[in-house]
Amino acid sequence: MSSAVPANPVSVAEQQRLREFAQAAAANSYSPYSHFRVGAALLLTDGSIVAGCNVENCSYRLTSCAEQAAIARAVSERGPHIRLRAVAVANLNAAASMPCGACRQTLSEFGDDDLLVLYPGENGTDESTTLGALLPHAFRMQFLDPK
Ligand code: THU
Repeated sequence: MSSAVPANPVSVAEQQRLREFAQAAAANSYSPYSHFRVGAALLLTDGSIVAGCNVENCSYRLTSCAEQAAIARAVSERGPHIRLRAVAVANLNAAASMPCGACRQTLSEFGDDDLLVLYPGENGTDESTTLGALLPHAFRMQFLDPK
């Protein structure tokens, strides 16, 4: 039997608030190379929000994405047991952007398949999906200890 109630309900108001936190975080972006100013905001299971921005490096591959910065900050501030309900990504470039492949894997360490992912689509639309849709068949810690 299917249910009309989503497994991971995040209200429209919470979603809007999360997008606003991501947008605000993007203002602190350190992106002198790409000039692509990204912010990410995490909604934790305790209801709190932790945000981060991308931090680039002249050795380009050392760049930290906004999602990764937010995760590192959340673990640093709240400890290793954080779990995610939702993540919002925003940028100040009026561009579509969703979490890159590496960020999807990083998010999957702390979120389940029903993790809500909010991102800007083409033409300024507000889009949403789930981590499971973005990263099917994720490699998870359970695989490290097969029974
Ligand atoms: N970027 C993010 O912060 N998150 C993503 O998921 C995609 C890309 C950043 C990395 C780099 O500083 C800039 O966007 C251009 O790729």
